[in-house]
Amino acid sequence: MPALAPLPWPAPPAPWLSRRLCPAGPAVPGEVRAAGARVVVVPGRYSVSYLLEGPRALTLVEAGSLADLPRLERAVAWLQKPVARVIPTHLHFDHCLGLDQAALAFGAPLGLPPASHAAVREGRPLRRPPPRAVPEFFVPWVWQGLPVFAPGDFGAGLRLGVFRWRFRPRARVEPLEDGAELPEAPGWRVLLTPGHSDDSLCLWHAAAGLLVAGDTLRNYQGGEWNPLLTDLAAYRRSQALLGALPVELVLPGHGPAFGPLTAARPLPPRVGK
Ligand SMILES: [Fe+2]
Repeated sequence: MPALAPLPWPAPPAPWLSRRLCPAGPAVPGEVRAAGARVVVVPGRYSVSYLLEGPRALTLVEAGSLADLPRLERAVAWLQKPVARVIPTHLHFDHCLGLDQAALAFGAPLGLPPASHAAVREGRPLRRPPPRAVPEFFVPWVWQGLPVFAPGDFGAGLRLGVFRWRFRPRARVEPLEDGAELPEAPGWRVLLTPGHSDDSLCLWHAAAGLLVAGDTLRNYQGGEWNPLLTDLAAYRRSQALLGALPVELVLPGHGPAFGPLTAARPLPPRVGK
């Protein structure tokens, strides 16, 4: 199974609440190498960012806070390659408040799946989870360490429109197709996995068995499906898709990496029961 190796610089301490209360503990920085794939894990203020290394360039997945940018810039400088693309796994605020600024700082376009690419182009809002799903947000927020907005994040959210479920980036946006391989990161493919949100996606490296999962899978309790849903029927289809994949290591949007997922160790089918 691919394992996480430490990065050559000290990580800032994880939030106290997260260390004390979260069953799975906080996300852990490090790097993973397997079957030609290399991923650097950079835990952020509200969600975990990942840098996928290709032969000549990097793909940045997530930039949840403006406060994450210095750590991302440090990791990019260490890898000594330019960022070719910035991809959010979906456009919930905790995954995208630093996204536009990161894309501009790295001189890279934003890659968006059809659902959010069309919404951005047409200036219309994305669907939000129903009110009954909202309580599912609060306990995990405590497990994560009860992060408050970093300086600039609230203003960034207003400017981008994310609090009205819109996203108005200044960076250039490009569409991502389901199943497409990232040209800058051979082996990594886009999998559309709607359900948590309409624009949720995962990035999958078949040879390495690595799955960058965003909020489609999370790890607050040891690795679980996400009960916070916008579309249950779509999520069931995404569960079926992911459940059929051989996954050695899940790199989730929240919490530490976990795996492997096998027939003998499937994820608990909490959602949809
Ligand atoms: Fe989310």
